[in-house]
Formats: sequence, C-alpha cells, structure tokens
Amino acid sequence: MLKPHLEQARKRTRSLVKIEDFKMRDELKTLGIGKTYFVKTYGCQMNVHDSENIKAILEMMGFRENEDMMSADLILLNTCAIRENAHNKVFGMIGRIKHLKEERPNVIAGICGCMAQEEVVVNEILDKFSFLNFIFGTHNIHEFPEILAEAMHKNSTEVKVYSFEGNIIEKMPAKRDNKYKAFVNIMYGCDKFCTYCIVPYTRGKQRSRRFEDIIEEVKSLKENGYKEVTLLGQNVNAYGKDLNLEFDMSDLLESVAKTGIERIRFVTSHPWDFTDKMIDVIGKYPNIMPYIHLPLQSGSDRILKLMGRRYTKESYLELFNKIKKTIPNVSITTDIIVGFPGESEEDFLSTLDVVNKCKYDSAFTFIFSPREGTPAAKMKDDTPLEVKEKRLYELNDLVNKYALEANKKYLNKTVKVLLDEVSDKEGCLAGYTESMKLVNVKAPKEMLGQIVDVKIVDVRTWSMNGEIA
Ligand code: 5AD
Ligand code: SF4
Repeated sequence: MLKPHLEQARKRTRSLVKIEDFKMRDELKTLGIGKTYFVKTYGCQMNVHDSENIKAILEMMGFRENEDMMSADLILLNTCAIRENAHNKVFGMIGRIKHLKEERPNVIAGICGCMAQEEVVVNEILDKFSFLNFIFGTHNIHEFPEILAEAMHKNSTEVKVYSFEGNIIEKMPAKRDNKYKAFVNIMYGCDKFCTYCIVPYTRGKQRSRRFEDIIEEVKSLKENGYKEVTLLGQNVNAYGKDLNLEFDMSDLLESVAKTGIERIRFVTSHPWDFTDKMIDVIGKYPNIMPYIHLPLQSGSDRILKLMGRRYTKESYLELFNKIKKTIPNVSITTDIIVGFPGESEEDFLSTLDVVNKCKYDSAFTFIFSPREGTPAAKMKDDTPLEVKEKRLYELNDLVNKYALEANKKYLNKTVKVLLDEVSDKEGCLAGYTESMKLVNVKAPKEMLGQIVDVKIVDVRTWSMNGEIA
C-alpha cells in the first residue's frame, strides 16, 4: 500500500523529470475480455483528458465501455478536489456503489484523480469505504493495468498513490470524446501555490512536455481529421520554464500554428506569465482562436496578496486592455472567488469594479472553499456564509448582464462555427465560434465536423441560435 502524503506533495525538487513511453504487459491485454467499464469524470478538462487516456487503456485490456453504471463490471470515478462540493458529489456516488456491490459483489470499483492524491480522503476511504477495490493517483495512470490486475484478486483496497511528481508518459493511447476537437497536454502540475489552491499538491511539480512530442501529436491529430486542438495545462503560459530552454509558450503557440491545424485554443492562463510576445503571436495567427480565459480571482489588491497571486488590480487591468487592443474581437472570460478569508465589503466592491471595467464575455464564480493543507484553509475567516452567498448572487447578476451584452453584439452577424456535436435542440447541430460562443445551428448531421459561416439570429446569456449563411 502506498498512500499519499501531504508534506511530501508540497516539496519541490530541481531534478529533471524522466520521460518514458507507455507500455503494457501482454498478459494484461486479455484481463477485461467480456467485461464492461463505466468511467465517471469530475472536474476540469485535464481530468476529462485523463479519462480519455484511461478509457483507451481499459479498451487495450479488452474491456468495452458501458454508459450504464448499474450493469458495468468495472466502475471508476475520476475525481476532482478543487472545492468541497466536488468532494461531496464523489462521496455520494461511493454510497451508491456500496449498494450496488451488495447486489453484485463481483463488481470492481475504485477511484483515481485529484481526490485520490489527498491524504485525508484516502484515510477516510480506507476507514469507511473499504469495499472499494483500488485507488490510484494522477501521477500513475499508466500503472492502472497493473493496479487493476492486483485489485482483481485481492480482498482489500489496493492503494498506489505517489506524492512526488510522476514521469512524463508519452504515447499514451486516448479514446477521445469528440472526433473533431482534441485535448493536448503541454504540461503537467503547477508551481504557483496560490494560497487557496489544492492543485500544486494533487498534480505535483510543473513538468513541460517536450516541444517535439507536442508538435508530433498535433500533426497526427490534423492528419486524422481533427479541426481543433486545445493545449492543456494548469498554467500554460509558464510552459517550458522548467526545461531551462530559450523557448516559451509564445514559441510553442507559433509552432503549433504553423502545423496548419485549423483551430488552436489553450487553457488556463495565469495573468503573471502572460507576455507581450504571446499576445502578439495570438493576434498574428488566424488559427489561434481569439479567446482567452484569464482568471482574476479577486479585484482587491489586499486579497490578491493574501491569495499569493503576484499581480495587482492595476497590472491585471493593464494586461486585459493590452490583450483587447492587440487581438481583434477577442473574447475574455474569467474565474472569480468570493468570500476569501477576511474579504471585506470594500474588497468585494473592488472585484465588482473590475467586472464593470472588463465586461467579461463570461465568468465562473465560486465561494471560497477551504482545502485541507493549503495556507488559506488556516486563515481567519469570519464572514458568515449568508454574506458570501449574497456576494455571489450579486456578482452573478453583474456577470450575466455583461455576458448577454457581449452576446448581443453578435446578433445578425456572420461568424465561423465548428459544428462538433448534435445539439439538444431538435434538428440542430451545436458548435463554438472562434471566440468560444456556443451556437445551435439548424443543420443536417452530414455537416458535423465542418467549419461553416453561420448568421446569428437569436442570443441568450449562455448560447446563441444561428442559421447557415
Ligand atoms: N475555493 C473556491 N474556488 C477555488 N478555485 C480554486 N481553488 C478554489 C477554492 N479553494 C477556483 C479558482 C480557479 C478555478 C478553477 O477554481 O477560481 O481558477
Ligand atoms: Fe479539479 Fe484541479 Fe484536479 Fe482539475 S486539476 S480535477 S480542477 S483539482
């Protein structure tokens, strides 16, 4: 049993990370024949992409996907640790698995992902939910076949979670959710240690993938008909910093643009590492989409300092305005936390002030959730929950107002949309504009995968309706 360890997860070494290719022993390739699996994913795109890798690994072992958890032979929850409610959802699901196992004791079930990296969570599972068969972490997805093989002939929970950064594993197979757009990891982990955030502990030290491996993956996706790639990392602007190369995110973006893939996106950016060179490259290449997610977190300098964000309201606004000026028709979205420990009404008003100035295309808003082991969890927090909730509602009203305003500018305009899935709306396909606006378009299924000109005929706060122009 190898359990996660918080103190160890906090440590950073200067050693270069090893790179190895994914391999699976032949004996494991028949383990799942005749059996089905169900994977449920919580959290961010990083987790979504990890699940794409996990599904492909399971299929290499002979398992087939089953969308119905109740009849699956293997159940895996790929978990998120970012806020308490993500935790609660997973524990609720584990409760359902308990009942299922009472009816079908041969079901194999386990968890992986960010919660599996938390010492408190693993201890709680071993204590209260020992019917789970396995737990593995974010650093050893490639070892899942071995862990599963071990768990399948064992009566106790097989636990293998590393608390030091994992190697970079190349040539991981992926069963991608979409045939036209794909996630491409460019880096793992994060060294920023914002005081509220669990990610540097659950995802480890920053490790950039080799430039040539990323380009090769993008080229191969393009050859296989993919129209869009999203470059993934916790903090993509810091790409390459750990490799000590004369090569940064702007160079990577430029090289990816030169592969000729039709659309390039990237998430997530930290305002701190966002260079002028990056802004210029995004503005220069038409296949780099004019959409930037630029987390603000707070508009108060005092709170930003407590959060360890290393920028001020003024420097954030300066960056924001530079991006707006240099990149034509750029849309910018953000993340905001209300109710950080000690946030006063005045601090909150500063956040509203930034929202009023930036008029974001959209924003994800959250109430601060203390994460065990992070510095902010120990800070004095005397703001009542009702006050935090009131702030959240007020913020959401403002954010929604500007989101609708931004969308209204699209009315009767013609925009390019990659039709990438069948819409919930009858007779429609759905897709995104270059600026990341969701559009439902009346179109036949044969048009899936095409980038088409669409005239916007109706706009809402979260989506738009359009017609083929
Ligand atoms: N509490 C609330 N929100 C958080 N986020 C990260 N950690 C926390 C936390 N402890 C938010 C941040 C981040 C987004 C992914 O989640 O806004 O940008
Ligand atoms: Fe959640 Fe962060 Fe892990 Fe993504 S990296 S799953 S947001 S805790």
